[in-house]
Amino acid sequence: MRKKIVAGNWKMNTLPAEGVELAKGIVAGRGEVCSCVNFIVCPPFTHLSMVAEALKGSDIELGAQNCAAEAKGAYTGEVAASMIAALGCKYVILGHSERRQYYGETSATLNKKMEQAYANGLTPIYCVGENLEEREAGKHFDVVKAQIEEVVYNLTEEQFKNLVIAYEPVWAIGTGKTATADQAQEIHAYIRKVLADKFGAAAAECPILYGGSCKPTNAAEIFAKEDVDGGLIGGAALKAGDFLAIGKGFAK
Ligand code: PGA
Repeated sequence: MRKKIVAGNWKMNTLPAEGVELAKGIVAGRGEVCSCVNFIVCPPFTHLSMVAEALKGSDIELGAQNCAAEAKGAYTGEVAASMIAALGCKYVILGHSERRQYYGETSATLNKKMEQAYANGLTPIYCVGENLEEREAGKHFDVVKAQIEEVVYNLTEEQFKNLVIAYEPVWAIGTGKTATADQAQEIHAYIRKVLADKFGAAAAECPILYGGSCKPTNAAEIFAKEDVDGGLIGGAALKAGDFLAIGKGFAK
C-alpha cells in the first residue's frame, strides 16, 4: 500500500504570522480528513521554525521548498539541508520547475542537492514535468524520463525507498489548466515503469504525486487513478479549507 500524500507548496507566499495562522487552521480541521492521508506543508524557510511549533502535537509534517547543494560554508544566501532538518523538516522539494526555469537548476545541481537531503535524513519530493511546447510536440515522455534517469537513477536502493516523485506539467502550474485524470494516469504509469526499469519491485512503493492547478473540485477524480498517490498543491494550499478538502479527495 503506497502512502497517500497531500503536500502544500506555499512558494513565496505568506508573511510569517500568516503562515502560522494557515498552519493552525490546517491542524484545527485535520480531524475531518481520513488519518490515512499524510499531509505535508512546505512554507518559506523563514517560517519553518514557527510553523513547526504550530504543527506540534499534530501528524502534519513539515518540508522545505529547496536546500543548498553544498553541506556548509561560504555560500552566501544559501540554506543547508542540515539546517532545515534541524528545524524539524522531514521533506524537501527538489527540482521544482520554477527552480529549474528561473534559477537554472540542472540535473548536476540536483544530484548534489539530493545527496545533501539524504545525508541529513530528509525525504526529497523530486519534481518532474514537461512544458507546453514539449507536450505539444509529444516529447513529454522523453522529458520526464531524462529528468528521472539523470537524477533518480543515481540513487542507491536504500535512498530510493525514501523518495516521493511529483509529476507537474509546467503548463498546468498556476494556470488553472489541469491535466485530465487520464493524462495524469498515463504519465504516472509511465514514470512508474521508468522507475521499475532501474529499481524493480520497489517502484510499486514509490508515491507519485500530481501537481498543477489541483483543487478541491478536481482532486478526487485525479486521485482516483491507480498510479496517482496524491498531490503537490500550490495555490490551493494557501487556504486551510481548500487544502484539507483536497485530502478528502481520496476515495481509495
Ligand atoms: P499550483 O502549483 O497548484 O498553484 O498550480 C503547484 C506547484 O507548483 O507545486
